[in-house]
Amino acid sequence: MITEEQVRQALEKVMDPELKRNLVELGMVRDVEIRDSQVKFTLALTTLACPLKDQIMAEAKAAVLALDGVKEVEIELKEMSAEEKKRILPDRDQPGVAERFNHIEHVIAVMSGKGGVGKSLVAGLLAVALRREGHQVGILDADITGPSIPRMFFPTRQWPKGGPLGILPVESKTGIKIMSINLLLQSEEQAVIWRGPLISGAIKQFWGDVVWGDLDYLIVDLPPGTSDAALTVMQSLPLSGVVLVTSPQGLADMVVKKAAQMAAQLNVPIMGLVENMSYAICPDTGKKLEVFGPSKSGVMATQLHVPLLGRLPIEPQIAELCDAGRIEDYPAEEFAPIAKKLAEMALPARRAMFLNVPGAK
Ligand SMILES: Nc1ncnc2c1ncn2[C@@H]1O[C@H](COP(=O)(O)OP(=O)(O)OP(=O)(O)O)[C@@H](O)[C@H]1O
Ligand SMILES: [Mg+2]
Repeated sequence: MITEEQVRQALEKVMDPELKRNLVELGMVRDVEIRDSQVKFTLALTTLACPLKDQIMAEAKAAVLALDGVKEVEIELKEMSAEEKKRILPDRDQPGVAERFNHIEHVIAVMSGKGGVGKSLVAGLLAVALRREGHQVGILDADITGPSIPRMFFPTRQWPKGGPLGILPVESKTGIKIMSINLLLQSEEQAVIWRGPLISGAIKQFWGDVVWGDLDYLIVDLPPGTSDAALTVMQSLPLSGVVLVTSPQGLADMVVKKAAQMAAQLNVPIMGLVENMSYAICPDTGKKLEVFGPSKSGVMATQLHVPLLGRLPIEPQIAELCDAGRIEDYPAEEFAPIAKKLAEMALPARRAMFLNVPGAK
């Protein structure tokens, strides 16, 4: 004979993925009825529009079916009353609620003083490589006026959904969680003409109001330069460190050093340097061509006292796959060792610093 106690115990093993508490503890399990091998109960969710509804139901059903003697499980869904919701999410209308439920182990920002050197590409490939190693990975696109991450990961337009705690990031085909202003705009071409404070506000919301859940790595793609977005990320996010991206052009040398100086002044560790567009391989002869001149990254890394993590070639296939929203199909063999080195050296996200920064949320 199956008892209600057994059913409740089974459902205690099922977690609400957003609230990180079990269904029984959250008061979601109601009206348990047992008739022979048949179990029927009601699940009261915080919202019936919950995007994770199917997952929660499937897990609840499987948990009860696993009990000895249960052959059939019927679940009725209902929505909690406003009062009940308030009890489990006391300040759910306040900004920054999601942040308290997120657990993000390492936060790595990708930066360069210079535009177009391949920051977004390096951010994207880093996420892909870490995901291939089996880590839980997210990308926060902090480039509010020139976001390029969604274009690299999605062949078609995607829209994030809202959950009870905040915005749910959109998942790529290999399961990388992505949030970008471009996912929220009516049209991808729509220009975001915002001044610094609004840009900073959006970045802080991407940190505090996005339900990232449990992540091993959150990669932050920065816009070029050392302006508001970079400042907000460095001051308000608990960074493990920054990766600097450079190219062999002379100008890059100078501007990347500015970025390095900014990180140093703000006390953010520089994890290393990646030189992109270092060389190209001639398809006919296999010869290595240094299109932008000889590499300067070794010298720069020594001057900055940071490791040179690696050099990436100019590879037409990269641009093609990025434009088609298929960056995850790129084998990225040259990138795997870079990601590995970064993963080894990434310190846990600097929570202490985060809590101590005045004005940081
Ligand atoms: N190694 C490479 N081989 C081929 N194409 C590349 C390579 N690196 C970057 N690209 C292409 O160059 C363009 C610029 O790269 P990306 O957007 O990553 O630069 P960025 O530094 O993020 O630019 P922005 O400063 O505008 O944010 C993209 O179209 C990208 O696909
Ligand atoms: Mg970019």
